[in-house]
Formats: sequence, structure tokens, C-alpha cells
Amino acid sequence: MLILGIETSCDDTTAAVVEDGRIIRSNVISSQTSAHEALGGVVPEIAARHHVELIVGVVAAAIEGASVSLRDIDAVAVTSAHGLVGCLAVGVGAAKSISHALGVPLIGIHHIEGHIHANLLDHPQLGFPFICLTVSGGHTLVALVEGHGEYRVLGETVDDAAGEAFDKTARLLGLPFPGGPVIDKLARQGDPRAFNLPRPLIRSASFDFSFSGLKTATKRCVDELENSGGQLPVADLAASVQEAIVDVLVAKTTRAAAAERLDTVAVSGGVGANSRLRERFDQVARRSGLRVLFPSLELCTDNAAMIACAGYHRLRMGYRSTLDLDAKASAPLGAV
Ligand code: KG4
Ligand code: ZN
Repeated sequence: MLILGIETSCDDTTAAVVEDGRIIRSNVISSQTSAHEALGGVVPEIAARHHVELIVGVVAAAIEGASVSLRDIDAVAVTSAHGLVGCLAVGVGAAKSISHALGVPLIGIHHIEGHIHANLLDHPQLGFPFICLTVSGGHTLVALVEGHGEYRVLGETVDDAAGEAFDKTARLLGLPFPGGPVIDKLARQGDPRAFNLPRPLIRSASFDFSFSGLKTATKRCVDELENSGGQLPVADLAASVQEAIVDVLVAKTTRAAAAERLDTVAVSGGVGANSRLRERFDQVARRSGLRVLFPSLELCTDNAAMIACAGYHRLRMGYRSTLDLDAKASAPLGAV
């Protein structure tokens, strides 16, 4: 079964063709990063306009890349919830048109359900249940995944997402957008213990996260350093910020796994590409025997293959969306 996936929830225009929920036949990602870089972040209106310009070409490239024709597509899966609503609407509109024209099922997918499925695509042996930490620019959420479409949210951010914390602190350090990959790279030359930044909620009994205090503390630090003259130790600051975020993510996730008596953790979302996060989880895995899986870097950040994979499983479960499928800025995980 060939599923065409479409994902336009933020600033990447993406389409993919996935066979039987497992084999990626094509995975096209057209990034708008350069358009948003100068503005220091994603501007929703500009992102939506770019999606309108790019979507037809990206879908055509996904079909061509899969060496199939549109008539071979058995269903269309699209991110319909959780994201910038104007951006989502472009993908949803395209998916509706294609499914209607081809007379094939349409299925709306929650963005985080897609990120969770990135792991199932790369690790078909993963098996249920497992704990999934989804960390991206818009979300930080730890969930118990009991099956396709069966999720229990154990904790989520009460303010900024982890990726947002990377992006906002990077901006304070004068680094370009998106800040996560830049901090990741710079931190390799810095001392993670140079600045003692807060690890919000690290000891709280809940599995919720909070990152806005880290941004405020970094700003205070930068202001003090700038006022005292001299050069900003950017690499040390980057390493210290990264270590604080990683400490919290690793501590909470491993505690969630222990609380649920589970030995498998999967990490997904753009921040899942972070090399220090991967290194620290690897250390935990070696020490405690916890199995920690990450998708390939390409499947960590937003992509449509993960949406096609989630769509395949939803279809097999009997779900179908109708042509009144709406783009929703937020929806509970598990909603379709
Ligand atoms: O999943 P994603 O592509 O889009 C959203 O759903 O938000 O994640 C984008 C986020 C951005 O905040 C970006 O800075 C962060 O993922 N990111 C990273 C890395 N690569 C991307 N954060 C830390 N280290 C990285 N290597
Ligand atoms: Zn995402």
C-alpha cells in the first residue's frame, strides 16, 4: 500500500511516499530556513505563503522520487493538527484535493503522532509499549506509547519547548536561527560547567518540563558579562545552556521509564538530532541497560515520511477523515 504523506505544520514543506508503513520510497523536504533566518524565527504568515508556493512542486518531487505516478497512491495522510494553523491549512488543502481527485482515503494525523512514528519507521523491531520523548521547536512531551494511536501523555512543557529554548538562547548569544544545530556545534568547543544555569523542575515529581526560566537566566548572565566588558564566551555559554536542557530531558525521561517499569525509550523531534542528548542517553543506556532509540537525523526533524507511516497504521485501524478535515493549531495527542 502506497501512502502519500504531506507535512506543512511549521517552516518545512514536505511530502513523502511510504510503502506499507515501512519502506520510504521518497522523502522530500523543502526548508524555508533561509527565508526566516534574517527575521530570527519563523513568521507564520511568511511560512504559509512559502508553503503555497512550494507545495505542488514538493508533492510532484515526492511522486517522481518514488518512481510512481499519482494514480498508484492508495491514500493521502496529512498533518492536520498541532502547528501553525495557516501553514497546516496549506497541506490539508492539498491533501484534500489530491484524495478527492484520486478517489482515495484521506487521513488527518497529529504532528506528534507523526514524530513518534519516525522511530517505528527506522526501528521496525521497536515493539510496544515504550516511552517516547518528543522534543522539537513547538513541543516537549513525554508519552507512554502502548500501540498505534494509543498514547498516555505523562508530561509536557508548561511554557517553552526544548527547541524553543535552544532557539531563544541562541538568539541571546547572537547566533543565527534555528539555534539548536548551531549551539550543538559550538558547544563542542565549550565547557558545559562554565555557567551554572538552572535545571527547571528537574527534581519535581511530575514529568512536566519548563524552559522559560533557563532563557531568563541566560539573559541575565549575558547582560552581566556584556556590562563588565570583554568578549562573550559564546562556546562556554552554548555548552552550559545545552547541558542544562539535556540534563532535564534525560532525567525526566529515564524517571518516566522507571515509573512505568519500561525498558525502552524512543526520542523524536528536531532536538532529537542533538549530539549531546544522544551521547548522554547512550551513557544512560550503557549504565542502566535502558534501550534508547533515536531516528536517523533526517527523520528527527519535520518530514512527511513519518506522517505517511502514521497514516498507514491509522488506515489499517479503520480511521478515515472526511473532506471537512480542518487544520487545528492544537489538539490532544491521539486525536485524528
Ligand atoms: O521537529 P522540528 O523540525 O520542528 C518542530 O516540530 O518544531 O524541530 C525544530 C527544532 C528547532 O527548535 C531546532 O533548533 C531544533 O529542533 N534542533 C536542534 C538540533 N537540530 C534541530 N536542537 C538541538 N540540537 C540540534 N542538533
Ligand atoms: Zn515537528
